[in-house]
Amino acid sequence: MQSNRIFIKETPHHIGKKIVVKGWVRNRRNHGKIIFIDLIDKDDIPLQVVFTPGIKEYYELASKLRGEDVIKIEGLIKERPSGMQNDKIPTGKIELESETIELLNKSRESLPIPIDNDGYDINEELRLKNRYLDLRRQRLHKNIKLRHAILHFIRNYLSDREFLEIETPILTKSTPEGARDYVVPSRLQQGKFYALPQSPQQYKQLLMVAGFERYFQIARCFRDEDTRGDRQPEFTQLDLELSFVEREDVMKLVEDLLIDIVKKITPEKTIQEIPFPRLTHKEVISKYKTENPDLRKDKTNPNLLAFCWITDFPFFEKNKEGEWTFTHNPFSTPIPQHREWLLKKDKINEIITSQYDVVLNGFEIGGGSIRSHTKESLEAVFEILGHNKESIKEKFGHMLDSFTVGAPPHGGIAWGLDRLVAILTNEPNIREVIAFPKTGDARDPMMGSPSEIDKKQLKELGIKTDK
Ligand code: AMO
Repeated sequence: MQSNRIFIKETPHHIGKKIVVKGWVRNRRNHGKIIFIDLIDKDDIPLQVVFTPGIKEYYELASKLRGEDVIKIEGLIKERPSGMQNDKIPTGKIELESETIELLNKSRESLPIPIDNDGYDINEELRLKNRYLDLRRQRLHKNIKLRHAILHFIRNYLSDREFLEIETPILTKSTPEGARDYVVPSRLQQGKFYALPQSPQQYKQLLMVAGFERYFQIARCFRDEDTRGDRQPEFTQLDLELSFVEREDVMKLVEDLLIDIVKKITPEKTIQEIPFPRLTHKEVISKYKTENPDLRKDKTNPNLLAFCWITDFPFFEKNKEGEWTFTHNPFSTPIPQHREWLLKKDKINEIITSQYDVVLNGFEIGGGSIRSHTKESLEAVFEILGHNKESIKEKFGHMLDSFTVGAPPHGGIAWGLDRLVAILTNEPNIREVIAFPKTGDARDPMMGSPSEIDKKQLKELGIKTDK
C-alpha cells in the first residue's frame, strides 16, 4: 500500500505519534499567527491541522491554501487543549501539528458549483457537467457508500445460498420488455444491429436450462424510454432466477432478503408490516386506483417502509387496435389453475399470470414470475399476441429449442436497485444514487454523449445519416 499514509479516521489512535495524511482542504482559518485548516479524505471526517510560523516555506504555503486543494501533511498528532475538544466528531479530541506540507494539486479559485451544501438547488445540467465535483459532496458520498453496502450484502447473501453470479451479454438481441431498444451497428455484419438488453430475461432462463439452478446478477439494463424521477435510460437490476420453484419460494426469498437489507444496512428504518401484505391486482385497483399503492400509515415519517406484494394480474389485455398484448412479461406462465386455458387459448381475458410485483412506499421496486418452460406454453403466448409460427421461430426459436432439451420449471424476479437505494436514502430521484446518471433528455453533459462520430467510423459501419 501507500508508504506510511494513514486515513484520517485512524488518527485518534496515533496520539503522540508522527503520521502522514493526504486529502482535501475544506476550509482555512487564521487566528493571529496560527493557521488552522480542516483536512478530509474519503471518509469525510475533518481533521484539524495547525500550522505555526516555524518553517517559513511551509507556513507561506499553508497561508495560501484554499478549499479543495489536495495536500500531503506530515506531523504530530496531539490531544487538543481541554475546552477546545469537540465530541460531535470522531477526531474532535485531537489535532495535527503540521511539520511539513506538500501541495499535490492546486484547486482553481472559484469552483463551478458549490459542494458544501446538499446541492438540490443547483441546475441539473451544471451538476452533471461537473459530476466528479458534484459527487464529492458529502450527501452523494453517503449515497454511493450505502449503495455499495447493499450490493455487497446482496452478493454475500445470495452466494451463501448457493447462487452463482453470472454475467450475460450486453451486445445482444432485442427482448420484448415493453420499451424501445438501444441499438449498436455491427461493422462485420453491415446493415445489422445488436440491441442492448432491456433485461437479461432470456439469458437467465437459458442459464436455468443450462442447469445452474440458482443465478443472480447485478445487471445493467437499457431502455430507450422517457426519463423521469424513477427512470433512467440505463439502470441496474438485481436479477435472479431459480429452478424447481413456485411463486411462494421466490416471494419468500425476496422478502427475507429485503428485510435483512433493511435490518443490517439501514437499521434506523422501520418496516410497517411483516410479512409484507399481499394484494391482488383487482383489490389494489379498486381500493387505491393504482398498481403501486403507498401504504404508509404516516407519510411524514422518513424512516417508515411500507412494502407490499401485488399478485394475480391479468396476463393479457387488448390494445387500442383491439389486439392482445401482455401486461407484464410474455415469458411468464399463468397461475397453475389457468395453464390449461393458455394451452387451449381459451378464456384469454380471464387468464391470470403468475407475476408478482413488490412495491415500496408507492414505487414498483421489483417484478417477477414463474416462467413458461415448455415449447407449447411459450408458443401459445406468442400466438395469442398475434405472431405467426414463422415469426415466433425467427425471434424466439432459441428459447423454444432450449425447452426441448430438458428445461426445468423455473422462475425469478428483478429489482430496480436504483429505486430501492433511492428510497432507503430518502432521495427524491434515482440520479442521486447513480454515480453518472443521464439528464432528463438522456444526455451526459460531462462526457458530451450522445455525440456525432467520425465520417470514417460511419463509413466502416456502412451507415449514412440523414443529418
Ligand atoms: P421489469 O421490466 O418490471 O421486469 O423491471 C424490473 C424492475 O426494474 C426497475 N425498472 C427501472 N428502474 C429504473 N429505470 C428504468 N427505466 C426502469 N425500468 C424498470 C423497476 C422494475 O420493477 N425481466 C423482468 C424481471 C423478471 O421477470 O424477472 C423485468 O425486467 O423497479
